[in-house]
Amino acid sequence: MSNAAVSVRQGADRSDGPLHFALIMDGNGRWAAARGLPRAEGHRRGVEALRRVVRAAHELGIRHLTIFSFSAENWSRPASEIGDLFGLLRRFIRNDLATLHRDGVRVRVIGEREGLDGDICSLLNEAEELTRSNTRLNLVVAFNYGSRQEIARAAKRLAREVAEGKRDPDTIDADVLGQYLDAPDIPHPDLLIRTSGEQRLSNFLMWQAAYSELVFVPIHWPDFDKAALEEAIAEYARRERRFGGLVAKTAS
Ligand code: FPP
Repeated sequence: MSNAAVSVRQGADRSDGPLHFALIMDGNGRWAAARGLPRAEGHRRGVEALRRVVRAAHELGIRHLTIFSFSAENWSRPASEIGDLFGLLRRFIRNDLATLHRDGVRVRVIGEREGLDGDICSLLNEAEELTRSNTRLNLVVAFNYGSRQEIARAAKRLAREVAEGKRDPDTIDADVLGQYLDAPDIPHPDLLIRTSGEQRLSNFLMWQAAYSELVFVPIHWPDFDKAALEEAIAEYARRERRFGGLVAKTAS
């Protein structure tokens, strides 16, 4: 098998269900609007859903959970909403870090740190440092994250190595570029779930999700719970994964 074929199979050689879930936690605003509540309340309830889902992920033996918590494009939202989302991240880390650590969760952060407020960077670093040795579940927080930007950052680092004479351009292939992404050691997602009925990737993990199974669920993120996660897993289990080949590899 070629190197490229090996790399797209990352995370797939297991017989015990999906190991890496990626979540686009969409619909907080619509959940709130439907109840006549401010959007901030939808985001706050979204954090509660996130807590439930992290617990459920533990219980279901999921090893990696990547969440889209603030996209590089979310800067186009009103400043007050950006402030709310940053406030929620601050509170999430301050309030939940000890519990996550106790439960063996390792927090990883992907996305662009440059330009973020110093206190946010410190909190993200603190979460990563404290939980560095935990092995039960990797919680990968995509914050100020965009997939195109991540790939461009990787390309820039490679270009710099070439310009400095440290790398021969002929050695660059998909596997090498993949090693320059933000969390190259995390296997690619087996299952990517987006809530609220929208059916697009929105610049999330476009490289890593090349062979992920996509499941779109109609409910808004604040209503997402363990039962919804189990339903998505059941849908995943019905899929056949062929990774570009002819031989079906059942999803679970
Ligand atoms: C999409 O809903 C959701 C977001 C832009 C942010 C998701 C954030 C959280 C669940 C909480 C923060 C996370 C952490 C880790 C503290 P939307 O606002 O786009 O909803 P809409 O499409 O209905 O308007």
